[in-house]
Amino acid sequence: MKINGNTVLITGGATGIGFALAQELVQAGNEVIICGRRENKLAEAKGKLPQIHTRVCDVSKDKDRRELFAWARSNFPNLNILVNNAGIQRMMDLTKGLEALAGEDEIEINLKACVHLSALFIPFFLEKKEAAIVNVSSGLGFVPLAIMPVYCATKAALHSFSVSLRHQLRNSPIRVFEIIPPMVDTELDRGGRDRRGQEYRGIPPAEVAQAAISALERNDFEVAVGTAENLRAGSRTNPEQAFQNMNKR
Ligand SMILES: NC(=O)c1ccc[n+]([C@@H]2O[C@H](COP(=O)([O-])OP(=O)(O)OC[C@H]3O[C@@H](n4cnc5c(N)ncnc54)[C@H](OP(=O)(O)O)[C@@H]3O)[C@@H](O)[C@H]2O)c1
Repeated sequence: MKINGNTVLITGGATGIGFALAQELVQAGNEVIICGRRENKLAEAKGKLPQIHTRVCDVSKDKDRRELFAWARSNFPNLNILVNNAGIQRMMDLTKGLEALAGEDEIEINLKACVHLSALFIPFFLEKKEAAIVNVSSGLGFVPLAIMPVYCATKAALHSFSVSLRHQLRNSPIRVFEIIPPMVDTELDRGGRDRRGQEYRGIPPAEVAQAAISALERNDFEVAVGTAENLRAGSRTNPEQAFQNMNKR
């Protein structure tokens, strides 16, 4: 699809991969709207990239998702790309029982929000000449890291959802892309990576953003970036070995 002249909404676009994508898309000649929960992060992003539009929104909340859609549709009638990028990642020890589940809900943010926002935007996008839904999943959706059981499950589910959605929309103007990043150096799990003494912090978010834009341009609907390709391939050729390698620490 064309990669300029679009109007793009990126959830979680104030930091990390989302912000890198906002930068690349603005550079390529697109109008970009970002949303997130933290007003200060949105303001910081706008300070660095004054062309973008911002909106405070917690995608874990049904009401916020509906309001985001209504606001976007009336303020940006040309909106034609939704990027489901907002996500959180939690280490979770389920031997602790229900205590492990206290806190933010990965299922609501990483999966339910993507499904609900897709359903809200699809009828609106069906009226466009060309539109896209871009889901940001993860290599960990293909080979799980057991210390993050729910995170990996949400990303596996997002992959599955993307495959089915692409099939359902195959005769429509809406293309469904899945971008599968490897480990990326962002705020996500920065604390966890510190605690685990993990030296390697991943590739720069700009690399994922560039891969995403190139995927859109080539109509390459499922793109595994960098080492995420090894995970995707390993999950198909020898899933048991791939799981053991991922979890040997
Ligand atoms: N970093 C990696 O290694 C990696 C690898 C594979 C996949 N990914 C995926 O890439 C996506 C982007 O993550 P990132 O690495 O760029 O991390 P990040 O910098 O932490 O970005 C996540 C963004 O999502 C927003 N967000 C979180 N919960 C939200 C909510 N309930 N409502 C609205 N916005 C919310 C955050 O802003 P607020 O907190 O202000 O809301 C933040 O801007 C995620 O889906 C992640 O799973 C990352």
